[in-house]
Amino acid sequence: MMMMMSLSSRVLFLLSIILVVLVVVTGQFIIKHPSFSRDDFPSNFVFGAGSSAYQIEGAVEEDGRTPSIWDKFTHDGYMPDQSTADIACDGYHKYKEDVKVMSDIGLEAYRFSISWSRLLPYGRGAINPQGLKYYNSLIDELVTHGIEPHVTIYHLDHPQILEDEYGGWLCPRIIEDFTAFANVCFREFGDRVSHWTTLNEPNVMCLGSYDDRHFPPRRCSQRAGAFNCTAGNSSVEPYIAMHNMLLAHASVVAIYREKYQAKQKGFIGINVFAYYFTSLTNSSADVAATQRATDFYTGWVVNPLMFGDYPKIMKKNAVSRIPSFTKHQSEILKGSFDFIGLNHYFEAYVQDNSQNSPKSGPGDFYSDMNVKFSATKEEMPPGSFIPTSIPYNPSNMQKILEYFRDYYGNPPIYIHENGYGAPYNETLNDTGRIHYINGYLESMLEAIRSGSNTRGYFLWSFLDVFELLSGYDMRYGLVHVDFENKDLKREPKLSAQWYSNFLKKNAKVIKIEDKEFEYK
Ligand SMILES: *[C@@H]1O[C@H](CO)[C@@H](O)[C@H](O)[C@H]1NC(C)=O
Ligand SMILES: *[C@@H]1O[C@H](CO)[C@@H](O)[C@H](O)[C@H]1NC(C)=O
Ligand SMILES: *[C@@H]1O[C@H](CO)[C@@H](O)[C@H](O)[C@H]1NC(C)=O
Ligand SMILES: *[C@@H]1O[C@H](CO)[C@@H](O)[C@H](O)[C@H]1NC(C)=O
Ligand SMILES: *[C@@H]1O[C@H](CO)[C@@H](O)[C@H](O)[C@H]1NC(C)=O
Repeated sequence: MMMMMSLSSRVLFLLSIILVVLVVVTGQFIIKHPSFSRDDFPSNFVFGAGSSAYQIEGAVEEDGRTPSIWDKFTHDGYMPDQSTADIACDGYHKYKEDVKVMSDIGLEAYRFSISWSRLLPYGRGAINPQGLKYYNSLIDELVTHGIEPHVTIYHLDHPQILEDEYGGWLCPRIIEDFTAFANVCFREFGDRVSHWTTLNEPNVMCLGSYDDRHFPPRRCSQRAGAFNCTAGNSSVEPYIAMHNMLLAHASVVAIYREKYQAKQKGFIGINVFAYYFTSLTNSSADVAATQRATDFYTGWVVNPLMFGDYPKIMKKNAVSRIPSFTKHQSEILKGSFDFIGLNHYFEAYVQDNSQNSPKSGPGDFYSDMNVKFSATKEEMPPGSFIPTSIPYNPSNMQKILEYFRDYYGNPPIYIHENGYGAPYNETLNDTGRIHYINGYLESMLEAIRSGSNTRGYFLWSFLDVFELLSGYDMRYGLVHVDFENKDLKREPKLSAQWYSNFLKKNAKVIKIEDKEFEYK
């Protein structure tokens, strides 16, 4: 039939398909007819959702846990909504119920983190038996339900006691303590854990904690007046903290490889927060600025693991303020990963800023990077790593994965976070989130078809959790949590049904008619 069509009718035919796919049909809200299903992804690809210890567990003073830097930060009143995660989702008590919900949705894997101060309340030394019991029980519960545990060892929350003792990541002593903590995790849990991530978003941590005042320990100097930091030095501390984080990562990978990997047969990697940067214009200055922004945000973490050193442009612009790796350090860093985890949410339009900002003072990460994030798309407030309100563009997923394929030699990748934030009053009818996930999965599949070595996808987040930037004002969950009800009732949103049906084999057509789905 197609062959008998004239060219123009073929064009019309194609157009009508496109329209059927996109248009809202009378009384029915059709979520784009997907051209893909679970079966189009490799069979060993995993789909899951994620959380982190401080954001979900609550029970912060229970069973021997001591405060982490986040407990101090929230109790000092630094969250925009003045909230704390003292209770959060009460995941510490509700883990069985939660694993059951995951299993009902059909999640193949769950990404979560271990609270350092719950397992080792003094930061080092004695293990807290109740902390050990909790993580053992959670892992057992997951394994029993056939859900792969993907464990983050550190999700921005070290014990306050180590911050008080020697300044946390600013001091190389943390390398030894972090390695000992990871060693306990491998020894106690490694027989059941397939994937370990050493550090979550070290790039966001270093900026948020030492330059932007968004995260504990809330140190800064560049805008000390405006941000009211009580201490800090933004021109050097972000670079020093990252240096120690990378060396700690390499040290942990080395012991996993030496002592555990052959027997436990797991994989180990790191995570990085990855924007997709686009040049606002085609001017060579803006194109160069775009590469510079990518090097500063992503290359800061990934280049040392790939090439044994920071991006050249960072060393050139930060001069002596960015530490150097010794030859030995560079060697242990290079190749210290089985996979790279990406947290990808946002795009930013980039312009060069070299002409506009004569340097005053010693400079910091932002003035070293010297770009302007464009106002024509979404303005990023100066000195902030997160835009205020964010348009999203699913096709960037393919582009960022292709960047890793081409620039970094196609390492195995897990999308550790990608997700849709909605306001507190979001209803269970979260069609916006369904559009979002559908778009990003489709784009990820395109990347895989063009050769990207992507191995898994974790939606952020499994439940609505305490968000590190916005407290309880934003909801990212597949599953709604009623924070006003003392039982913290969980209710799957429409997106949970969508994801669930996507994960069932052969679910080709996904159609929403009020709350009913049809699969043909
Ligand atoms: C800094 O402190 C001043 C004076 O106490 C206050 O008015 C201002 O809101 C504070 N700024 C921030 C960002 O906390
Ligand atoms: C920050 O550290 C640099 C390098 O050690 C030093 O030159 C500068 O004076 C320090 N700035 C502040 C505000 O302490
Ligand atoms: C840049 O150049 C490309 C190819 O010539 C063109 O498609 C694109 O629209 C241009 N982008 C801008 C922002 O001018
Ligand atoms: C949620 O609150 C916003 C702002 O207050 C309002 O515009 C919106 O209509 C509300 N949405 C629902 C579903 O109630
Ligand atoms: C859910 O939202 C969609 C689009 O926002 C709307 O068309 C549909 O009627 C809603 N369904 C219910 C049950 O509210």
